[in-house]
Amino acid sequence: MKLVSNPARRPLDGTVTIPGDKSIGHRALLFSLLSETPVRVTGLGDGADNGRSAKAIAQLGATIKRDGKALVIQGTGLRGMRAPEGAIDCGNSGTTIRLLCGLLAGQPFATGLVGDESLSSRPMARVIDPLRRMGATFTGVARGSDIVPPLTVGPATQALSAIAIELEMASAQVKTALLLAGLYADGTTSVTEPGPSRDHTERMLAYLGAPLVVERLAGSAGPTSKVTTTGWHGRLAGESFSVPSDPSSSAFLVAAAILAGAREVRLPHVCVNPTRTGFLDAIAAMGGEVVLEDRDDHGPEPLATLVVRGAAKELRATEIRGDLAVRSIDELPVLAVIAARARGTTTVRDAGELRVKESDRIATTCAMLRAFGIACEARPDGFTVEGRPDRPLDAAVVHAEGDHRIAMAAAVGGLVAAGETVIEDADNVATSYPGFAAALASLGARVS
Ligand code: S3P
Repeated sequence: MKLVSNPARRPLDGTVTIPGDKSIGHRALLFSLLSETPVRVTGLGDGADNGRSAKAIAQLGATIKRDGKALVIQGTGLRGMRAPEGAIDCGNSGTTIRLLCGLLAGQPFATGLVGDESLSSRPMARVIDPLRRMGATFTGVARGSDIVPPLTVGPATQALSAIAIELEMASAQVKTALLLAGLYADGTTSVTEPGPSRDHTERMLAYLGAPLVVERLAGSAGPTSKVTTTGWHGRLAGESFSVPSDPSSSAFLVAAAILAGAREVRLPHVCVNPTRTGFLDAIAAMGGEVVLEDRDDHGPEPLATLVVRGAAKELRATEIRGDLAVRSIDELPVLAVIAARARGTTTVRDAGELRVKESDRIATTCAMLRAFGIACEARPDGFTVEGRPDRPLDAAVVHAEGDHRIAMAAAVGGLVAAGETVIEDADNVATSYPGFAAALASLGARVS
C-alpha cells in the first residue's frame, strides 16, 4: 500500500478522536486474561497489533465478547490458562511477543511464538536471558549474540525463582515481562531501571490486585525506578479497563498541525502520562505550542485534550537525550520531521534502541529525511538533523520499510513539501493507526 501526501493549502482544522493507546491496549487484553472476574475493556484501538494480543488471549483460554464498542473478557486467572492449539502469531507486535514471554514463562505447557519478517529479526535475549535466570526454558533462533523468533516458551516444571535485576537500559517491555513472570516465582522479584519507561503495567496490575511496590531511588547516575512484586497465589480481579487515546498516534497529528498551521486542531481524551509525553516537551523546546485542555487526573491515567492553534511558527533546533529520549522514543521519527523545519541542528542521542524497533529507525529516519532533501547524519545512538526552515522540503518518494511510524512521519513531512510525496510500503500503518490518513484528511490535509 502507498500513502500519498500533498502540501497543505490551508491551516488544518477540526477534532479527531485518536484510537486507544496501543501499549495500554496490549496490557488491558493480556492482563484481563489474568483476572478471575470478567473485565470490560473500552476504548481499545483497532490496530492489528492489539488484535494480535486479543487473539493470543483467546488461544490461551479467554472468552471475548463484544458489547457495543466494548469487549467483555472472561479470563482464566493466573493459573487457569490452557495450552494453545498451534503457535501464537504475534505479527508485527514486539510488545505482544515480549510480554507473552514473561507471562508464559511460568506456565506448565509449552507455547510457540512466531511473528512476521520484521518481528523475526528483533532481539529477544533482553527478555529471554533474565527469564532463563528465573528458571524458564526457551528455544529460539540464534542471531549473533542475540535470539530472534520463532520462539518456544516453557513448559515450566516448577515455580520460577525470583530475581533482582538492574536493567542497563529502560524498557517497559522487559520490565513488564519480568514482573509478569515474578507473579509465578518463589519470592520477591525486583526490576530496577535507569530511566522512566512507561509505567502502564504498574498502574494496571496494581488495579487487578497484584502485589506491586514502586520506588523512585536516587542513583549515583541519576534517578532510577524500582518495581517489586512477589509470587502470587491470591486472585487477580478487576471490573474494567478504559483505554485512553494514544499519545504516540496523536504525535503525528500534532506535528502536522504545528508544521502546516492550524485554525484549531483538537485531540480529546489523550493519555498524558508523563512517561509518554516527551514529544510535547521536545516540541515546546523547539518553540511549538500545544495546549493541554480539559485535564483529568482522576482516573488511572491522566488525560487531556491536545490543542494546536495558529499559523505555523518559526521553530528552533533542540537536543533530545537521556530521559527525554526514553520518554519520546516512539515519537523520534516524527520529531525528526519537525526538526527538518526548525532552524539549526537538532541532535538525538541515547536512543540506540531505535536500531531495533520495527525497522532500524536511525537508518530509516535518516533515509526519509534525505529523501526530503534534508541533511541527516546517523550516529550509533541517534542522529542529527540540519533544519531547513526557509524553504519547503523537497517532494519525495519515501520507502517506509514496513515501519508504521516512518510511513506516518513521512506523510506529515509531505504536508510541508514542495510537491506530491509518495510513501511506499506503508501497509503497516494498520498495525497501530488504520484510520491515520482519513483522520489527517478530515482536518483538511490532502493525504490518501
Ligand atoms: C512499549 C515499550 C517501548 C516502546 C514500544 C511499546 C510497551 O519499548 O518503544 O513501542 O508497550 O511496553 P521498550 O520500553 O521495551 O523499549
